[in-house]
Amino acid sequence: MIPFSPPYIDKDVINEVLDSLNSGWITTGPKVKSLETEVADLTGVKNVLCVNSATSAMMLMLHWFGVGKGDEVIIPAYTYCATALAVMHLGAVPVMADADENFCMDVSKIKNLITERTKAIVPVDIAGYPCDYDEIYEIINEPGVKKLFKPSNETQTKLGRIFVMSDAAHSIGAVYKGKESGSLCDVSVFSFHAVKNVTTAEGGAICLNLPEEFDNSELYKWLRLLSLNGQTKDAFTKSLGGNWKYDIVYPGFKINLNDLCAAVGLAQIRKYSGDLLLRRKNIFEKYNSFFSKTGWAQLPPSKDKFKETSYHIYLLRIKDISEEQRDRIIEEINKREVAVNVHFIPLPMLTIFRERNFKIENFPKSYDNYSRVITLPVYPQLSDDDVKLITESVSDSYNAVIKS
Ligand SMILES: Cc1ncc(COP(=O)(O)O)c(C=O)c1O
Repeated sequence: MIPFSPPYIDKDVINEVLDSLNSGWITTGPKVKSLETEVADLTGVKNVLCVNSATSAMMLMLHWFGVGKGDEVIIPAYTYCATALAVMHLGAVPVMADADENFCMDVSKIKNLITERTKAIVPVDIAGYPCDYDEIYEIINEPGVKKLFKPSNETQTKLGRIFVMSDAAHSIGAVYKGKESGSLCDVSVFSFHAVKNVTTAEGGAICLNLPEEFDNSELYKWLRLLSLNGQTKDAFTKSLGGNWKYDIVYPGFKINLNDLCAAVGLAQIRKYSGDLLLRRKNIFEKYNSFFSKTGWAQLPPSKDKFKETSYHIYLLRIKDISEEQRDRIIEEINKREVAVNVHFIPLPMLTIFRERNFKIENFPKSYDNYSRVITLPVYPQLSDDDVKLITESVSDSYNAVIKS
């Protein structure tokens, strides 16, 4: 069986973890700091905070902005549940926009969804393909939209407009108009979950790129404290001796990343741009070359004049099929010993959102994308033979279902 997404664990990853184990320090400390520096170097964003997941990172940032009860946050209908849950856990209401042809949030739908309760927009770079950030900023900076914005604290007054936080869970290494993902809006959040391009088993990073009214470096220090119970000294600093006194200055969270996990990501990110990402791109291109010859396949977006994906997963759509036919094709592929997936089941189709009155009929493009998509694996360990087997399995399965 070709697995869908095994983590990339080589000698360097193992040695980095061993280094942490042998160092006598395993929770937040020097490895987390080094990982933050690597993410900063990769993205060009100076202030990067690592935490224990992208979900908690998004909650932390929405909390920092003061999003809460009575507020609305615009998110795409086509995403993983975490985007919505981060909003709901703060007591705010997610307002969903339909997808576009590239799986991302359709920006032409945003303006109609903005009300005086809208505090934030969370675009999601699905499969690593960046959203239309310039267009999003054009909308939120329109005088009429800015006038509608009703700040309810100092931070919101200082920003003076809707807060843009990218759910960049998939898009580390992606590029938009010459800029790296992480630097494309106010705040971007990467996920280092086990299946992501760079992983720490579980983890996430917050890239702080707020406009000049904000001191991103001071904010980094404050958020670091918020991620560690609101405590003025972390355990590492306290362990150095003579440094035992601390205070709790804010009812913070306990969402810090630990050094053992950071070590995994540290070894990976060092060879990401120059090696691992290029291997992902190579696999993606092999898929493109095969499927472009079929006539029945719709290729996912990958690279154009303005954008380049992070090649996270390959979202193959099949032309003119139903959801039921797609399901049968997946069954056939599984019989051929290849693990594939579907990213994503649109939120309005899931129980908790149906119960909150979201209806998939109101999100036709999300449903169309979902009903025809099969996610193919992309990871550096896939050999040319694996890729050949995957493409042939998909093609044979298509023929078995559609031509039978
Ligand atoms: C689009 C998207 N957002 C957020 C997340 C949540 O990431 P984490 O598991 O690091 O909290 C995921 C995880 O798969 C995701 O796919």
